[in-house]
Formats: sequence, structure tokens, C-alpha cells
Amino acid sequence: MQDWIDNLFQEPKLLRMGHSQRLDDLNLGLGWLYYGLVRIARPETIVVIGSWRGFCPLVLAKGIKDNLETGKVIFIDPSLVDDFWTNQQKVKEHFNSFGIDNIEHFLLTTQEFVKTEAYSNLKKVDLLFIDGYHSKEQAKFDYEAFEQLVPPQGFILFHDSIGPKLSKKYGKDNTYTYTVYQFMDELKQNKNLQVLDFAFGSGVTLVRKILTE
Ligand SMILES: C[S@@+](CC[C@H](N)C(=O)[O-])C[C@H]1O[C@@H](n2cnc3c(N)ncnc32)[C@H](O)[C@@H]1O
Repeated sequence: MQDWIDNLFQEPKLLRMGHSQRLDDLNLGLGWLYYGLVRIARPETIVVIGSWRGFCPLVLAKGIKDNLETGKVIFIDPSLVDDFWTNQQKVKEHFNSFGIDNIEHFLLTTQEFVKTEAYSNLKKVDLLFIDGYHSKEQAKFDYEAFEQLVPPQGFILFHDSIGPKLSKKYGKDNTYTYTVYQFMDELKQNKNLQVLDFAFGSGVTLVRKILTE
């Protein structure tokens, strides 16, 4: 695993975006949580919404491979920050350069993805990682698009979820403040859910359904 992380961090941009990664000790930071959940729960289907350079889809896909089981990461990102995800051949090469071939990328917003056959064909989403546009409204849309497909033993994670932060990712004319945490406050009122914040890096929130039987 350390060799894999060493190779991953050869791309300095994979050390950014608030997952508490650190090069010195080849430390995935919050990535250990993402990877660990995959090793524990052995998900077959993971959906990731949004990523700047693929840190989450890569770490989650690596977990599936290390489980020695089949499974895949469906990665939804319309490449609205820059053109990084627009060329499908380059996207494939990017993931392959880290030994990862089990990520299927859709160059779509969640709003567009829910109208596809790929969405209609989804029977179950064992792990859902939400890291797209960080407004309360979009986080809610992303959650509601997939929540019913997540089984009781599944997990839902929201990144950038623990407080407000000014973002200029979409250009200085499209500055906005993260409000995902406000949606977390709503989920925390739901007695059928367990909701736990991890206040490291930009923060991540783990949600699971409470088993009723
Ligand atoms: C910049 S990333 C967030 C950074 C992230 N913390 C990381 O670890 O890489 C946000 C991504 O969400 C995507 N995005 C924005 N709106 C979206 C939407 N409606 N549906 C899906 N993805 C969206 C953008 O294209 C962008 O790549």
C-alpha cells in the first residue's frame, strides 16, 4: 500500500483538496477512512459525485481491488472547474497510471446522470461519496438521487461538510460559500440516521441508516 501511495503522491495535486493527506509519512489522511470502509464493508458498487483530480475515486477503487473482489466506482463529474475530466482517453490513462481500471466516469452533472440508463440500471449503491457542488441544495439533490439505493449496511459520505467556506473554484465571478453543513444539520435531526462529522482537513461526514430489525 505504501508503494501505491508513494506513486499516488507523485502527482502533487492529489495532496490537495482537504483530505488531510501528507507526503512525509505517505499518509492518506481521511483517505484511510474511505479506504478502510471499503475494506470493511466490501462494497460492489460505489458512486462518487465530484472530484478535482480523483483522490476519492482512486482510493475507493484501490480498496475494491485490494478486496480481491469485483466491483466498481461510478464517478460522476461534469468537469466544471477546469477541463481535466473532459477527454475520456486521458481520464482512463490518469486512473491507469495508478493501476486503477475499475472506475467508470460520466461527464455529467448528477441532474443529468439521473436521466441515464446507467442510473436506471443501478440496483444498489453500497457506498456513496458526495463531493460535487457544495451548496446545501445540491448536496440534498445528490443525496436524494441515491439514498434509496443505499442498503442498511451501506455508507454515505459528504466532503467539505463541517462549516462555511468561501470558494473561488468556479472563478471569481462565481464565488460562493459552502453550505453542505446546513444539510448535515438537517440529517442530524433524522432519527433513522446516524451522522458523524470528522473535523480533519475540510471535514467529512459519515451517514448510516439505523437498522430497524
Ligand atoms: C472541485 S471538486 C471538490 C474538490 C474535492 N474536495 C476533491 O477532493 O477533489 C467539485 C467537483 O464537483 C463537480 N460538480 C459541480 N457541480 C456538479 C453537479 N451538479 N453534479 C456533479 N458534479 C458536480 C465539479 O465539476 C468539480 O469537479
